[in-house]
Amino acid sequence: MGLGLVMIIVVAATLAAAEACPPSDRAALMAFKAALHEPHLGIFNSWTGTDCCKNWYGVSCDQGTRRVADINLRGESEDPIFERAHRTGYMTGYISPAICKLPRLSSITIADWKGITGVIPQCITALPFLRILDLIGNKIGGPIPVGIGRLRRLTVLNIADNLISGPIPASITNLSSLMHLDLRNNRISGGLPRDFHRLGMLSRALLSRNQISGTIPPSISSIYRLADLDLSLNRLEGPIPESLGKMAVLATLNLDGNMVSGNIPASLMNSAIGNLNLSRNKLEGRIPNVFGPRSYFTVLDLSYNKLTGPIPKSISSASYIGHMDLSHNQLCGPIPAGSPFDHLEASSFTYNACLCGKPLKAC
Ligand SMILES: *[C@@H]1O[C@H](CO)[C@@H](O)[C@H](O)[C@H]1NC(C)=O
Ligand SMILES: *[C@@H]1O[C@H](CO)[C@@H](O)[C@H](O)[C@H]1NC(C)=O
Repeated sequence: MGLGLVMIIVVAATLAAAEACPPSDRAALMAFKAALHEPHLGIFNSWTGTDCCKNWYGVSCDQGTRRVADINLRGESEDPIFERAHRTGYMTGYISPAICKLPRLSSITIADWKGITGVIPQCITALPFLRILDLIGNKIGGPIPVGIGRLRRLTVLNIADNLISGPIPASITNLSSLMHLDLRNNRISGGLPRDFHRLGMLSRALLSRNQISGTIPPSISSIYRLADLDLSLNRLEGPIPESLGKMAVLATLNLDGNMVSGNIPASLMNSAIGNLNLSRNKLEGRIPNVFGPRSYFTVLDLSYNKLTGPIPKSISSASYIGHMDLSHNQLCGPIPAGSPFDHLEASSFTYNACLCGKPLKAC
């Protein structure tokens, strides 16, 4: 063999080695795949060959380190693989702890496969670079890993629409980078962590449809960026903290379907909140007479409570009220006239003590 040819072979071998992903990453992916069964689309058919960074469906690597950085497997997607099959994804099996042997993972999305069971591997909390954990729309059970707070870089935690049970671990409040928390539609119980407000970067906290109990910690209102707080359909009780109405960017506050009691804080009626659902609680007393130009509601739903007294006159001075529902309370008196809610139908006011005037019958 000529020296030139040897050189070429050596260079080619070196390049190939540089191209291939580390055998340990490949082995971890193969073990991850072995625990899953995807019968219709063949999404794992491309997981062959030595270079797991090259054309493996849903796998991407860091350009510099050539380590696996993202696993992105969505069961509902525009990808041609789905269009060809004319169906959404379905996958069974479980998430193997082998996934934890990919130490450079920064994002894990295994979403909307409907049939994946098992638990969230505890060891996931030892992935130091993890930024996104999105497991929405499976049948994953068991608890949120107790050490979740170790994931200091986590910005998105989405485990909605699963069968997750147990409490929200106290350590979650150590996730100082967390921006998006979605735990909706699980079986999570216990209270909200007292120091929930330590999640200082949080902008969306979606916890509806669980079995969360206890009271709403007033300190939540110190989360400056919080824009969307959805605690609906849980078992929360006690008062609504007045401070929630003083938050800078809180636009949606859903507390419907709990056992929240006491008066409606006046601050909620002229705040940044445009989407307020307090329906189906145990709220009593009067609707605060503090509406003004700052009151702009796409939704204002106070139905199914024990509210008494009149509809406040100031409501006529609100900028806009799109959908309002005051039905199923004990309100009494004339319905104020005003452009913000000229368009409302009788159903917004029915089942009260003695409301009268348009759109109900004349007083
Ligand atoms: C939060 O992190 C600190 C520092 O690492 C640690 O001492 C503390 O135990 C953690 N808190 C929880 C509730 O895990
Ligand atoms: C408010 O919450 C109730 C109870 O959960 C729900 O039935 C209703 O549709 C919600 N209102 C709006 C306008 O979304």
